[in-house]
Amino acid sequence: MKITFANPEMPKKGVVVVGVLDGRKLGGSAKALNEVMSGGLVRAMKASRFKGSNGQSLALLAPGGTRLDRILLVGLGKPASLDASALQHLGGELYGALSTKGHATVQVLIDPIENCKMQPDEMAAEIAFGARLRSYRFDKYRTREKVEAKPSLKNLKIICKGSARARSAFSPKNKVADGVFLTRDLVSEPANVLYPETLAKQAQSLTKLGVKVEVLGEAQMHKLGMGALLGVGQGSVRESKMVIMQWNGKKGKGKSESPVAFVGKGVTFDTGGISIKPSGGMEDMKWDMGGSGVVIGLMRALAGRKANANVVGVVGLVENMPSGSAQRPGDIVTSMSGQTIEVLNTDAEGRLVLADALWYTKGRFKPKFMVDLATLTGAIIISLGNEKAGLFSNDDKLSEQLREAGEAVGESVWRMPMGDSYDKMIDCDAADMKNISGGRGAGSITAAQFLKRFVDKTPWAHLDIAGVTWSNKTTSIVPKGGTAFGVRLLDRLVADNYEK
Ligand code: BES
Ligand code: MN
Ligand code: ZN
Repeated sequence: MKITFANPEMPKKGVVVVGVLDGRKLGGSAKALNEVMSGGLVRAMKASRFKGSNGQSLALLAPGGTRLDRILLVGLGKPASLDASALQHLGGELYGALSTKGHATVQVLIDPIENCKMQPDEMAAEIAFGARLRSYRFDKYRTREKVEAKPSLKNLKIICKGSARARSAFSPKNKVADGVFLTRDLVSEPANVLYPETLAKQAQSLTKLGVKVEVLGEAQMHKLGMGALLGVGQGSVRESKMVIMQWNGKKGKGKSESPVAFVGKGVTFDTGGISIKPSGGMEDMKWDMGGSGVVIGLMRALAGRKANANVVGVVGLVENMPSGSAQRPGDIVTSMSGQTIEVLNTDAEGRLVLADALWYTKGRFKPKFMVDLATLTGAIIISLGNEKAGLFSNDDKLSEQLREAGEAVGESVWRMPMGDSYDKMIDCDAADMKNISGGRGAGSITAAQFLKRFVDKTPWAHLDIAGVTWSNKTTSIVPKGGTAFGVRLLDRLVADNYEK
């Protein structure tokens, strides 16, 4: 979909979207339309339950007195409630309401609103962002879909005062949307197409944007002593990889400042290995690389909008398969840190991958902080459902920054407890630690405690995104499927705290 901005003009033809405030209060454009319709717009509202409340809409087809095809009235609610996220949702909802109606072009009229904190150009940029986010679709394998079922909307034209300012405000948001789309693509691809090598290739495509990308293969990881990660991948015919991405965008005297780091779990398919999973629903494990997908999409967003920050992204890529060469329950592996791990359950593989990825990142880059993302535990879905990601951290300030960024973009995180009594649960007689507690409780917390043993003193946070990486229902700016939860959140974390 192409999104354009234009200065105020009244469209003569086609489809027009116009806002109505709470209590059926009309802005300038709606009043003008009502006039040419000889009061028909107001009568239509009165003939319906449309009050202009947020979330309401009313479609008028072939409105008399005009040559328009359709007017869509959208409820704006109260002026004071109109903030960035409300407008993004509005943009998403109007895309949802109009994309499959057969129109190729839609024109959105934005008027200044009294007592609203946002100017028309700012509103325009947020509406455009929301509409773009909602417009994502993964349809590359649908060769026989009927044209009538596909979205027809190709051009979204947003008409407001200060359209040039709107265009420049939208530009960085659009880059973030590019990152979100990349993540959604990666998460949606099946595991026969997306495996460590092809996922690494996708990351390498970021070099076009100025990201420095290195790919380690098994031989190099072996030399580095990454026995934890390599053990997970050893049952697969696909070679394990680690990808290191660097965006050095910091300008001025902070140029050589130490970076912030994001680390992702990239299990391109998780069968469970020898501790094999039940077959029902196993197809979901194609998105067990969701954490790595977020890190790659985030790097694209940051590089795309030329973020004024030094950022490292590291992803550990493996396929967890059962085979004659697979790791067995009871195997003891030595991680890059030197700590040994008894692998009691080969399905608790994400933490093994992250153990080496975190240790490597910490040692090589000495980052200001590390945030890892992983579809790590089913238990976090029991705790938080599909609404919030679990946040685990050794640092209150970082936790608070993550919480605030999450609230700001509508990707909510909830901090979970950690502590010595949980840490003890992964102590082990045969090795330095075991990869599962063996008990039934606190599965997400013991997983986090495991990761904490590989971050040393570095400020660190772990986001368990198992419940939020995939969605079975469409919401205003997130179509069902891969959500890319984390890209907008971490982009915001960087923007608000590390680009000053
Ligand atoms: N990838 C899974 C976690 C998962 C489950 C992600 C459901 C998304 C949806 C992870 O590797 C796993 O298998 N975890 C086990 C850990 C257990 C063996 C301690 C789990 O949660 O059951
Ligand atoms: Mn697993
Ligand atoms: Zn997994």
